[in-house]
This record gives sequence, C-alpha cells and structure tokens, in this order.
Amino acid sequence: MDLRWLIFYLASLRWVSAAGNCSYKELIEHLGLDNSDVQMTSLRPVRNWTTPTIVFMNLLVTSITEVNEKAQSISTQITVTYGWYNEFTVWNRDDFCGIFLCSVKKDMIWTPDISIIESIKTEFATTESQYVQLKDQGIIVTSNTLALTTACKMNLDQFPFDVQSCNFTLQSPIHSSRELMIRPFSDASFLTLSSKKAFQTQGEWELLSINISTGNVSTLGEEQDQLIYTITMKRKPFLYVINFLMPVFYFLVLDLASFFIDSSGGEKLSFKVTLLLAISVLLLLLKDMLPSTANDIPLIGIYCVVIFTLMAISVLEAIFVNFLMAKGNQTDSAAPVVCTSALSDTIKDTNGPSDSIADHSEERPYTLNALKQILMEFQAAAHQNQQERKPLCWTRVATIIDVIFFVLYITTVIVFLVLLFKDWFL
Ligand SMILES: *[C@@H]1O[C@H](CO)[C@@H](O)[C@H](O)[C@H]1NC(C)=O
Ligand SMILES: *[C@@H]1O[C@H](CO)[C@@H](O)[C@H](O)[C@H]1NC(C)=O
Ligand SMILES: *[C@@H]1O[C@H](CO)[C@@H](O)[C@H](O)[C@H]1NC(C)=O
Ligand SMILES: *[C@@H]1O[C@H](CO)[C@@H](O)[C@H](O)[C@H]1NC(C)=O
Ligand SMILES: *[C@@H]1O[C@H](CO)[C@@H](O)[C@H](O)[C@H]1NC(C)=O
Repeated sequence: MDLRWLIFYLASLRWVSAAGNCSYKELIEHLGLDNSDVQMTSLRPVRNWTTPTIVFMNLLVTSITEVNEKAQSISTQITVTYGWYNEFTVWNRDDFCGIFLCSVKKDMIWTPDISIIESIKTEFATTESQYVQLKDQGIIVTSNTLALTTACKMNLDQFPFDVQSCNFTLQSPIHSSRELMIRPFSDASFLTLSSKKAFQTQGEWELLSINISTGNVSTLGEEQDQLIYTITMKRKPFLYVINFLMPVFYFLVLDLASFFIDSSGGEKLSFKVTLLLAISVLLLLLKDMLPSTANDIPLIGIYCVVIFTLMAISVLEAIFVNFLMAKGNQTDSAAPVVCTSALSDTIKDTNGPSDSIADHSEERPYTLNALKQILMEFQAAAHQNQQERKPLCWTRVATIIDVIFFVLYITTVIVFLVLLFKDWFL
C-alpha cells in the first residue's frame, strides 16, 4: 500500500518537472552557459562596451595568524565577497518553476580578475568555493576565503605598545576603470563589526577597525580603480611586559638597592656584575623580537641600552670605590688633619656652610646626615682597631663619591624613566 503511494508520488513529481522548466539544466541551456560560448566564459558581460562593469566587494578579516616584524609582513585569513551585474544571465523566474538562484562552476562564466596588490603569497583556504551564484536579475556573487601573506610596512617605535595599520589594495591587473569599477559594498563600521564577530583566533593582535578608501593608479597607460581596505590592529603587550620590560626594570631596582650593600668587601661588585650579566641575557631576547633593519631605534631599544649603560657605569663606580677602599686600608698617610679638613670642605661644597662633622642638625638633607653617621662610624672603627690613628682618608672619599653617585644615579634613572614612559604612552 505504502509503496504504491510512493510510486505514485514519485511519478507525480516527475510529471510536474517534465511539464515546467524546473531543472537547472534547462535554465543553463536557456542562458547558453552549456556550450562554452566565448561571450559567456571570457568576455565582459555587457552588450555595449562603453558600459562599465561595477564590481561590489566586501572584505572580512577572519583571523590574523602571524605578524612578522622582521620580514614586515602579515599573514591573515580574509573572506572576499564580490558581486557584479551580468547582462546575459537575466531570466524570468516564473518561466523556470520559480528558480531564482543557481550555482555554476566558475569556469563556465566570466569572473572579474581582482587581486590584492600587497600579496606576497596566497593560498586558497580549504573552504574556497568552485562556484558562483547566479540570481535571476542578472546578479552574480561569489566568495573566496584566502590565506594571505601581505607586505605591510610597520613602525615599531612604540613596540610593544604599538598599533599597526596594514593595507589590502584590491585592483584588477588588466582592466581599466572604464571597464571595471570596484566599489565597496558595505560600509566600514559594518565590516569592522562583522570581522570582529567572525574573528577566529585570539592571538597577539586585536582588530581595532577596518577602513575603506578608494583610489586609482595608471599602470598600463589607463587609469585603474583601486579599493583600499586598511585594517588597524593593536598588539596585546602583556607577554612582553611580563617577559621583558618588568625583569629589566627589576634588575635596575636591584642595582639601585645594591648601593646599600657594604662596599668594603667584594660582594657589592660581584652582585652588580651578576645583574649586568642577567640583563645582557635579556638583551639577546630583544634581538629576536625586533628587525635589524629599523631606521630609528625603537623606544624599547633605548630603554634597554640606557639601562644597560647605567648599570655598566655603576659597576665602574663600584670598582673605583673598591679601589679607594683598598687604598685606604693600605696606606699610612701622613696628614690626618688635612684629610679631615678636606672632607669638611667637600661637605660645605655640597650643602652650603656647615659647622662640623659631628653636627646632627635635623634640617640637613637625609643623605648628608647618613653620610656623616657613616663617617663617624668609620672614625670610631678606626680608633678601636688601629694601633695608631691610621687615616681613613681614602675610605671617606670613597664613601662620599658613593653617596653622590647614588644621588645622581637615582635622579638620572627617574628622569629617564619618566621621559621614556611619557613618550611611550602619551
Ligand atoms: C519554459 O521556458 C521557456 C523559455 O525557455 C518558456 O517559453 C516556457 O513557457 C517555459 N515553460 C513553462 C512551463 O514555464
Ligand atoms: C553604447 O553606449 C553609448 C554611451 O552610453 C551610447 O552613446 C551608444 O549609443 C551605445 N551604443 C549602442 C549600440 O547602444
Ligand atoms: C594605506 O592606504 C592609505 C589610503 O590610501 C594610504 O594613505 C596609506 O599610506 C597606505 N599605507 C601603506 C602602508 O601603504
Ligand atoms: C578608521 O575609521 C575610524 C572611524 O570609522 C577612525 O576613527 C579611524 O581613525 C580610522 N583609521 C584610519 C587608519 O584611518
Ligand atoms: C582618479 O584620481 C583622481 C585624483 O587622484 C581623480 O580626480 C579622478 O576622478 C579619479 N578617477 C576615477 C575614475 O576615480
């Protein structure tokens, strides 16, 4: 029973399709797409050659897979959708059983040749379509998903807090703007929104916006239309901050702290040298991150070089102070009195008129008081330890140099960091 109904049903279907023009084949035959007609496959689909073919395009960025600062290139996956009007593929849907859409192979019909100028390497993604879609009013649309590597000139001054803009210039290599006009289909804010929605990778880069502009160039003597999509993206700097900027900064802080290590032994010096080595290991990382071809040094380079230099200078200073200390411990100087007066002169120079070393007045700057206490202790130590009043002249000079250097050092570091961060973030 059921089977009989089914057969009857199938037979009725066949009867309907036989009566109307309901198959694609009849439509294709009607449009003349079945016999590889040169007009359909290779010629621009206009009856009057003065009519330009207008191609409407949409470009969506669906992922940013790699940004190569060294090669100045960017690998993305984009979806390009385009549509145009074909004067020969218009049909009346009522004649064809209501068919209003039909997909045919790309090689059966003329398609505009539009390429991306910046492209270095193009690969069709697995989702590349072999088909174009015909609509009954003569509109043809097709869509390609491309994995592209495009050239993009990047400015790395602000690295890693940088924002980069890359262009995708869509242009026909052959057709002039009198034959082929390229126009955007959606506006920029819509593209930005849909790209963000379609974004598949959560990589290092965040898509900020896609902007559209038009232009033209003349290569073959005729003007050619260009449609330029500018994608703006922002680097997520977190990794670089954690991995690089903060360690370097901490080493600098440790170096500042190392001034409070007793400088009479060799400990301070070896600590500073260790810090210097640690920083130079980090500098090796920088080499991998930045292109060697950069015309001007990026701020991160300045940050590293200046901090490295400052730390190297502080090592030199530690060596010098060590040297003076050693000298102070060895020499039997002749004139302790001269030494003390020279010392008070130095203090007068740094802080205006002052009375004596023993003065503990509160309005003095902290460093000077500390210096004096240190000196007092040195003197006391000298009285206890030495058989005679052995002069600690060199030791005192070394201590003063150390303190003055520390003040200068910390001032330089603060001024440098403030200037740099102002440049970096403002
Ligand atoms: C089938 O298509 C032809 C044109 O190719 C048309 O003349 C005819 O009326 C159509 N038949 C039906 C049943 O729609
Ligand atoms: C072709 O188009 C031009 C400009 O639109 C027009 O002047 C000309 O008459 C057209 N030729 C034909 C044969 O339709
Ligand atoms: C990208 O295109 C815009 C608009 O034409 C242009 O101003 C800009 O210089 C281009 N950028 C690059 C890197 O070529
Ligand atoms: C892109 O457009 C947005 C607004 O739509 C604008 O704020 C931004 O400056 C533009 N970017 C570029 C690179 O032109
Ligand atoms: C090409 O660009 C020039 C300005 O650069 C403009 O005057 C002209 O209208 C443009 N041509 C087309 C077809 O857009």
